Amino acid sequence: MKMILWVALLMSHCCLGLNGAAAESRGLETIQKCGTRCSRGLHCTTKPDSLFSPPCQNPPEGLNTSSVFHNISLSTVMRCEGRQQCSLHLRIKTQLQLTEAIHGVSICTVTAGMMANCRILGFKRSSRERMSGQQVEVENDCADISVSQRSQVIVKTVPNYCGVTWTDTYQAPECVNEDLQRHVPECITGRLSYDVNSKTNELNVSVSDMLEDHNYHLRLCLKHFICAGTGANKLIKKEEPVKSAILPYSRPLPCLCIEGWSTVMDAPRVQVCPFKDRLEELWFGINFDPLEGTLSWEPTCPVRAVVALCQKREDGVCVDLPHASQNISRKKITFSQVDPHSQLCMKFTADSKSWTRCPFADAKFQAWEVVVTKKEGHEDVTMSSQINATFSVGLCVKSEESSECRVTKTHIMHVEKHKSVGLKLAEELCSSCLQVKRLDVKFAATITHCLGQCNDSAEPRPVISIRASMDLTWIVVPAGVCLSAIIIIALFLQVHQRRKQKRNGCSSEKQTDPSLDCVVSAYQTKPVLHGGVLIPDSPLCEDTERANLISD
Ligand SMILES: *[C@@H]1O[C@H](CO)[C@@H](O)[C@H](O)[C@H]1NC(C)=O
Ligand SMILES: *[C@@H]1O[C@H](CO)[C@@H](O)[C@H](O)[C@H]1NC(C)=O
Ligand SMILES: *[C@@H]1O[C@H](CO)[C@@H](O)[C@H](O)[C@H]1NC(C)=O
Ligand SMILES: *[C@@H]1O[C@H](CO)[C@@H](O)[C@H](O)[C@H]1NC(C)=O
Ligand SMILES: *[C@@H]1O[C@H](CO)[C@@H](O)[C@H](O)[C@H]1NC(C)=O
Ligand SMILES: *[C@@H]1O[C@H](CO)[C@@H](O)[C@H](O)[C@H]1NC(C)=O
Repeated sequence: MKMILWVALLMSHCCLGLNGAAAESRGLETIQKCGTRCSRGLHCTTKPDSLFSPPCQNPPEGLNTSSVFHNISLSTVMRCEGRQQCSLHLRIKTQLQLTEAIHGVSICTVTAGMMANCRILGFKRSSRERMSGQQVEVENDCADISVSQRSQVIVKTVPNYCGVTWTDTYQAPECVNEDLQRHVPECITGRLSYDVNSKTNELNVSVSDMLEDHNYHLRLCLKHFICAGTGANKLIKKEEPVKSAILPYSRPLPCLCIEGWSTVMDAPRVQVCPFKDRLEELWFGINFDPLEGTLSWEPTCPVRAVVALCQKREDGVCVDLPHASQNISRKKITFSQVDPHSQLCMKFTADSKSWTRCPFADAKFQAWEVVVTKKEGHEDVTMSSQINATFSVGLCVKSEESSECRVTKTHIMHVEKHKSVGLKLAEELCSSCLQVKRLDVKFAATITHCLGQCNDSAEPRPVISIRASMDLTWIVVPAGVCLSAIIIIALFLQVHQRRKQKRNGCSSEKQTDPSLDCVVSAYQTKPVLHGGVLIPDSPLCEDTERANLISD
């Protein structure tokens, strides 16, 4: 589907016009040729002058220096030699109180980096004597001025009487003025209009009002401080009847602009950015370095936004992780020591809107997982990790009143690379969940696994919610290999632990016998009311070592 979005008129620079702004709204007056005009009856002559006129002289008696110049106004007019061949002139209009002592006015325009331009408008003796005492008007529009140029204007009397100098600065209009865009070559950029074909990722760009008799360039660029070219650059020949070109783009980025200009030196350029509202296109290219655990993202376009790490809940809401938000500058944003988990996401907030991107949504990046399998009527919970990692594992209970899971007990667990560790929970634990979070990183999601349902008639739920009758026993089983140390897990209330006596008893023979699966045996010790007891492994462990937590 194509849609014509809009026609570009604007130059990339904006409206700074000071004095020029007024003229813009009215449209510029066009003159045939420049010259000097004086009030009826006053005969004027024009001759060049130098900026460095002789030093000022004392005004004659009776000359009121503060009332000589009544009103001096400055404006821009356009002189045209063809439709696209207009130039700008500064018009200086002076109202002055004529006396016999004033023989004329000297006008200078001074522009940075250029020669001062001065001229004397002289009054013929007879006419100035006749009109002495009257207020007269003198106007000249022969000073050249360029688009958006700033000039200083100095008006003095001739002779140069001390204390009657008038000065002001003037800013010529900018190319935003539509008259200038049509008629002044410095401002003729051409106008761009375009169709977007979002299926093929192509822009069909048409140009009008470009400089006659010149070829025209079109390109796509990415606008930062400057617009840096990207991809195609097309030339439209001046002979071509249809002034249009197809520009393919790869992504509709907000700073992707179409730039057009005529093939002349220092040609002004027009820029149109068709996708400038498509902020959501920026949130791509998130990188993860698994060795460093660094999550990074670099803005492709300048944007004011905040990036935060967050955890995506089941309801789709992504909850910010603490102390994990950064303002976007031009630089790359990095978060170091991030746990790559499918629920860990990046949230971009700009203009009071938020977008969430989950770089690890594809589980293949995930470093660890909690696997729940149903075995002989109970649930086996296994932690497996592709890296050495430390976790906090908590048991929490969901209460009727609140949806929040209240953590009742946590313990810390180390899982070695490529080894899984079984956790076994036995006994009825209605509405209990495990909350697992990696501790050896700065930024990690807290993963909640709910362990089962007490309701037999409840619908079967995914694997983690298989109904189980659980001992109140957690058994940490190093699957495959016996740990040399026993991991002690304490849950619920006080836990008494006795140092285990044997640590290496079965380790060597374990490794030689692959058949020795560290199967969780139903280690049935009925909970005692007043506390939990850790039972050392060796005497009980025939094929494996395990750490059991018994508690009430
Ligand atoms: C000079 O002109 C100013 C303004 O027109 C006026 O206020 C002032 O009184 C005049 N001074 C003399 C000495 O006439
Ligand atoms: C000064 O001249 C300009 C242009 O002629 C006019 O618009 C303006 O009203 C004048 N101002 C005064 C104070 O006479
Ligand atoms: C591009 O637009 C121009 C002007 O609307 C049209 O003449 C031309 O056929 C279009 N080109 C393509 C390939 O659609
Ligand atoms: C982001 O910038 C705003 C204001 O510009 C500031 O108030 C805020 O503290 C900054 N946030 C961060 C995370 O740097
Ligand atoms: C993981 O931990 C084990 C035991 O502490 C150690 O031998 C191994 O070198 C560690 N591996 C890595 C990649 O750190
Ligand atoms: C058990 O499940 C049934 C049907 O799904 C439901 O009606 C009942 O309220 C549930 N009981 C509990 C205690 O959740």
